[in-house]
Amino acid sequence: MSDEKLASRMARLGSETAFDMLVKARTLEKQGQDIIHLELGEPDFNTPTTIVDAGKVALSDGNTHYCPPAGIEELREVIASHITQSRGVEVNADWIVITPGAKPIMFFLMLALIEKGDEVIYPDPGFPIYESMIRFVGGIPVPIPLLEDLQFSFSQKMLLSKISSRTKLIIINSPQNPTGGIVGEKDLMVVADIAIQNDIMVLSDEIYSNVIYEGKHDSIASIKGMLDRTVILDGFSKAYSMTGWRLGFGVMRPDLQVQISKLVTNSVSCTPPFIQKAGVKALKNGASSIIKMVGEFRDRRDFLVKELNQIPRISCLNPHGAFYVFPNVKAFGKSSDEIEDYLLKEAGVALLSGTSFGKFGEGYLRISYANSIENLTEACRRIRKALNNL
Ligand SMILES: Cc1ncc(COP(=O)(O)O)c(C=O)c1O
Repeated sequence: MSDEKLASRMARLGSETAFDMLVKARTLEKQGQDIIHLELGEPDFNTPTTIVDAGKVALSDGNTHYCPPAGIEELREVIASHITQSRGVEVNADWIVITPGAKPIMFFLMLALIEKGDEVIYPDPGFPIYESMIRFVGGIPVPIPLLEDLQFSFSQKMLLSKISSRTKLIIINSPQNPTGGIVGEKDLMVVADIAIQNDIMVLSDEIYSNVIYEGKHDSIASIKGMLDRTVILDGFSKAYSMTGWRLGFGVMRPDLQVQISKLVTNSVSCTPPFIQKAGVKALKNGASSIIKMVGEFRDRRDFLVKELNQIPRISCLNPHGAFYVFPNVKAFGKSSDEIEDYLLKEAGVALLSGTSFGKFGEGYLRISYANSIENLTEACRRIRKALNNL
């Protein structure tokens, strides 16, 4: 189709470069090159068998029809008590909207809240879909840089300077993609103060809330006065290795929940009910699988951070959550995109340039350690050798 026929908003839609990199890497594989995949943000473990079995039983039992757009009552109740218990806030099923994956919560919330010209503050480097969705709905993206010196948190002064009368929404993400950083309690308090004083909503992307190595997960929703102005985004993709099932949810005050559910009705109608049944099983019986997975990720993180810091001209912080490291490669004097491309072609290692996550990602790479220690060992050996020639 010619570009003139496309609605102008399509030109404002971004993408997720992890998928572009996957396509490039697969093309090289077809040509016979051996590639180690460190580009994708999905756990490399199988979905726990008990969860798979629950999905199968639910299929056989006929959970194959439309269901309420906001989700089946059983799963919404289980999620509500999980949120009450894990975040220490009183919510019930009326606060929950279930969606196919957590991503639609970003899309639907911005469609519901953002008018043309409204400003949305979001982390940079950050998940690329935030900026894409902000632009798509006509909002103005206002990036807040995450700084290595602050363990990839933001400067409070900088955040304050970005607030204007048009600021409608602040997005925070902790544990964070791509840096693995955590937004600490003090920073959460600052965001909360600003949100309350300026009547701003907060989208708190907590999709990695279970993948945490030191300390505990803090949600901004738990801060006094914040529950009503926070939308928690969370889901099953990362916690239970269920990326392909597509199961996520939003937690928000009931009047907003009704509006977001209308967007579900207007788009996908509902999330498949047999998948939601598997989600019930995950929340009721999946705790031990999370502990096992996080233990394995911790070993890999420790290994990878140590190995990377031994490579000349690379320095890498020790992230406290998610399954990414974000090494600094500024000393090579090349752009992150150039290094990404070079390592793919010369070393057969697929990873992502920091700028895939925004302009403040320049000088960094994102490496996902959702891969075995053997492959990580080989990847580090190849990276060291290739970078030695740069
Ligand atoms: C920060 C962040 N939020 C949300 C998502 C989307 O999760 P889902 O696959 O459940 O849609 C991802 C996936 O990579 C992510 O990294």
